[in-house]
Amino acid sequence: MVPECAHRSPQSMLRTAKDYLKGTRFFPVLKCILRLYRRLLYGTHVGRRLALWESVSFWDQWLAEALADRDHPTRETFGCISRLDRLDPNLPLSDYHRRFIDHLPEQDIFVLDVGAGPLTTLGKVHPFKRLHITATDVLAAEFESLLKKYQVDPPVRTIYADAERLTDLFPANSFHLVNAENAIDHTDDALAAIVQMLWVVKEGCYVVLNHNHNEADHQNFEGLHQWNFTVVNGDFIIRRGAKEVNVTREIAPLGDCESELLEDFQIVRVHIRKKEGVTLQPRAPGLR
Ligand SMILES: C[S@@+](CC[C@H](N)C(=O)[O-])C[C@H]1O[C@@H](n2cnc3c(N)ncnc32)[C@H](O)[C@@H]1O
Repeated sequence: MVPECAHRSPQSMLRTAKDYLKGTRFFPVLKCILRLYRRLLYGTHVGRRLALWESVSFWDQWLAEALADRDHPTRETFGCISRLDRLDPNLPLSDYHRRFIDHLPEQDIFVLDVGAGPLTTLGKVHPFKRLHITATDVLAAEFESLLKKYQVDPPVRTIYADAERLTDLFPANSFHLVNAENAIDHTDDALAAIVQMLWVVKEGCYVVLNHNHNEADHQNFEGLHQWNFTVVNGDFIIRRGAKEVNVTREIAPLGDCESELLEDFQIVRVHIRKKEGVTLQPRAPGLR
């Protein structure tokens, strides 16, 4: 007989062990030790690998719950669209995203979603344009296994690309819109990722970022949550420990940056329009 654990991923076994330990009186001590251990690893290559590995476990659970919603008569909302909406190949592109492309003369619109997770949140259809969406994530291979496990055929398949190395895959000026939602604050070098997004977006087109306000603080700098994003006097600011960068100023030669904090939702919303005729250095600037 095959033991039950033989069918389970190491991440889901770790989750079960964690749930079991939560019920014991050692758990608070264990949690402190674990937090200290993570702090020591914070910023190191090993720490990041560990956090990515844990992120797969999050998505495993997320997919299981999303598919359970299928049998639910009311679609539960998670963020701005329901989890199941992400599986809908006919989901219209939101009015919010349409405002960045509707005015463009081209019929074929190329969109890049960076750090998309296993199922991009972007709508797949537009009333009068053809959308070509490329969804990317560093965990694309792991997501492929999860989708297979849950027998999900996504409308857009996420492919591997590191946000900090987009130019390894895509030529400059490739996309009419480059989007990232709650992903760039999970990268190792957030500024480098933003510059890379600017590199691959077409001139005069937009890089659009929507991230939870100061997510690293809220998540106790655990896992991949290493950067705080905020807005100060209209400028987009990113912070980690003693490091603070005014992104609006830093990227001013490359793009015009508008940012606001949506107080009601605690979302940092940033729109960067790439300037025309700029020459970007693919690897600079960055925070490392
Ligand atoms: C919180 S999830 C957000 C996913 C999706 N955008 C959404 O809103 O549901 C963050 C994603 O960023 C990805 N990520 C982290 N660092 C990355 C990097 N350097 N390049 C690309 N993706 C990255 C993670 O693997 C994860 O899937």
